[in-house]
Amino acid sequence: MCKSSEQTIVLIGFMGAGKSTLGRKLARMTGMPLVDLDSLIVEQQGRAIPDIFAAEGESAFRRYETGALSSLQADAPIVLATGGGIVGRQENWQLMRRLGTVIYLRAQWETLRARLSGSTGRPLATADRSEADIKSLWQQRVPLYEQADLIVDTDDRGVDEVAHEVLSGVLERWTAC
Ligand code: S3P
Repeated sequence: MCKSSEQTIVLIGFMGAGKSTLGRKLARMTGMPLVDLDSLIVEQQGRAIPDIFAAEGESAFRRYETGALSSLQADAPIVLATGGGIVGRQENWQLMRRLGTVIYLRAQWETLRARLSGSTGRPLATADRSEADIKSLWQQRVPLYEQADLIVDTDDRGVDEVAHEVLSGVLERWTAC
């Protein structure tokens, strides 16, 4: 078996991919604690994410995001739900891989678009941003998400089905090490 510190399940994917929902489900199924990186940033910074973006801009948020990721002492495995932009910094990849298996929750643009419509609290997907801009951000990130250890499709699938696929994928990897 792998060291327990490498058994963390790291969920990545675009905004609206369902990382938090699936994270909660996986945490219930495995008994591992759920850490939501956005919530950790809010806790560490004492401010909401839109407030961080408004006061200091995206680059400060990215620094805090990397700081929160590197603050995780995963000597016990956790389920980690990340924010959609975590894949943009190379050092985040090293930090995520140090923790465990990185899983891309893949969804087609139409699925994401529908899930994001009317969403609040996401500075990079606010109602005043054009759909073309958000889609272009997604397109830029897709090749980065695809660097994950496992890719799991989520379109037209329920959370139970996706959770089972994630767990069988990680179990296969754990038994191989
Ligand atoms: C972001 C996604 C958000 C949050 C922040 C930036 C992004 O998380 O981290 O608003 O750059 O895609 P979710 O993916 O959970 O919405």
